[in-house]
Amino acid sequence: MRATLAEAYDLAPDLALAERMADIHARMARVVPLADWALHAPYVAAINALKAERGAVILAHNYMRPEIYHGVADVVGDSLQLAIEATRVEAQVIVQAGVHFMAETSKVLNPAKTVLIPDTQAGCSLADAITPAGIAEMRARYPGAPVVSYVNTTAEVKAASDVCCTSSNAVQIVRAQEADTVIMTPDRYLAQNVAAQVPEKNVVWWDGSCIVHERFTAADLRSFREHAPDTRIIAHPECPPDVVAASDFAGSTAAIIDYVSTERPAAAMLLTECSMAANIADAVPGVDFRGPCNLCPYMQMITLEKILWSLHTMTHEVTVDPAVSEGARRAVERMIELSSAAK
Ligand code: 13P
Ligand code: SF4
Repeated sequence: MRATLAEAYDLAPDLALAERMADIHARMARVVPLADWALHAPYVAAINALKAERGAVILAHNYMRPEIYHGVADVVGDSLQLAIEATRVEAQVIVQAGVHFMAETSKVLNPAKTVLIPDTQAGCSLADAITPAGIAEMRARYPGAPVVSYVNTTAEVKAASDVCCTSSNAVQIVRAQEADTVIMTPDRYLAQNVAAQVPEKNVVWWDGSCIVHERFTAADLRSFREHAPDTRIIAHPECPPDVVAASDFAGSTAAIIDYVSTERPAAAMLLTECSMAANIADAVPGVDFRGPCNLCPYMQMITLEKILWSLHTMTHEVTVDPAVSEGARRAVERMIELSSAAK
């Protein structure tokens, strides 16, 4: 990959180019030193030129590394924002800088467009946790209960569900169900966190979890608070409920960004993928971000080099069986309708 790209594009580290692209670097200067930017800048320039040539748009999740997030993304956001933006895309080609289920969601919402993922191995432990057979098992166990599946699922699982949700609208989606018992899949912690906020429903769940967020523990938080009581602790709802309860705020990746940008605490600890703190560090210079750093191994598979390769070779195209796609689109569109109705 590297040798072929180096023949087609000028990718050698280039300090002069890095300095000419100082406006982009300024958005990540606190976390990406100039010497590193000199390595990234040739890739960023090549991707942005090729993107225009191919009529492509890059949709990037908030967990992308800073050089992707600030350097080449056309749209950044949490899973809900990316799904909504995918319904509005005019470009014929979408490059999904994120994990596979996100690319599938873009494809399901845009069956006639070309959707590319830079690394097909970029999966998700939650999406791996359940299959349509698991949904059928839950339906058999709780007859008549609607199935609310997290967007972190395959298209097949979405098609077997009644409606999707993301971390930013899960409470509204569950509340909007008429039935008393609501099945949530596949994240047990998201379901337990929602259940705490929607006591009027009997929320039951599948036993999946996120390998990044399950590592945070309430005991670690308590000892951290003892040592640094001034730190605002902000959690993603994929964290265990006792971690969320011990935090100052919990929300989706976009809600976390809004919270830090608005509140500007002197010190903050984000209990989520640690690229998030890196991506917003320059926008909130007064905030001291404190560890720990948990990286999502799947999100980290997406690199500038693979994005360039993806656009250069127009790979890897994401396909979804049309019958599955129709069912999955219904579940995602139902989610978008319900979350805009709740606003
Ligand atoms: P958000 O919808 O909050 O961006 O979360 C997606 C995700 O995969 C978190 O791990
Ligand atoms: Fe999946 Fe967790 Fe990675 Fe998000 S952070 S993509 S939920 S494994």
